[in-house]
Amino acid sequence: MTRPVRGLYDEQITSLSGTSNGARGKFIVFEGGEGSGKSAQVERLRGMLPRGTVFTRDPGGVETGEDIRRLVLSKDTRGIDTATELLLFMAARTQLIAELVAPALESGKMVVCDRFVLSTIAYQVYGRQKMEYLPLVKNVFAIVNRGCIPDFTIFLNVSPQIGLERAHLRLEAPNRFDEETVAFHERVREGYTKHINDYGRSISINADRSLEEVWQDVERAVQSIL
Ligand code: TYD
Repeated sequence: MTRPVRGLYDEQITSLSGTSNGARGKFIVFEGGEGSGKSAQVERLRGMLPRGTVFTRDPGGVETGEDIRRLVLSKDTRGIDTATELLLFMAARTQLIAELVAPALESGKMVVCDRFVLSTIAYQVYGRQKMEYLPLVKNVFAIVNRGCIPDFTIFLNVSPQIGLERAHLRLEAPNRFDEETVAFHERVREGYTKHINDYGRSISINADRSLEEVWQDVERAVQSIL
């Protein structure tokens, strides 16, 4: 049974049982660097998708995941080892899959997730320059994914300069990653570009443009899945 979640995605959880004709739901993931506008695009999607679609975020989405999220993103968390950081993201995702994504997809619901496993490859492997961690991410994910491989990944490809400027203009407090260097975010982008096709179909959208222009491409991409 899924527990309610505090915060941004509260309304996502209704009953996870009894939607459809037995078909598995579609799993759509949004990925992108800081300031790529993912959250705004996901917000716009809400009106377009079938009722009962589950919107969630990684890390987070379920109570334990939100607890891990606070810990791993907080600027007060100091001296965290790169492997610990990676395993915390993997742990949050494992719980999100077990508690929310797998049951939702199995009951025929569509799931839209803000970030997923490619974020760990992009940030913890490429951003942190730990290529030796790539097999760790892949192997752990292969064991814990419960069949939750994205059907479609929408990658909002933003130039780090532009993305970081946008992120700094946001009202929310910056997280530990907003304060990384441009070089770090260049590596994150490289990681995404190299691995974008590792899990399901994907599309890369130029996110240096206005929200409206990006939305037109996002809408078209999502229509093609529906
Ligand atoms: P969030 O506020 O969701 O950032 P954004 O609005 O840019 O999506 O914070 C998530 C942060 O966590 C983001 O900086 C990327 C980072 N992250 C990782 O480093 N590894 C991961 O596996 C995930 C899922 C996120």
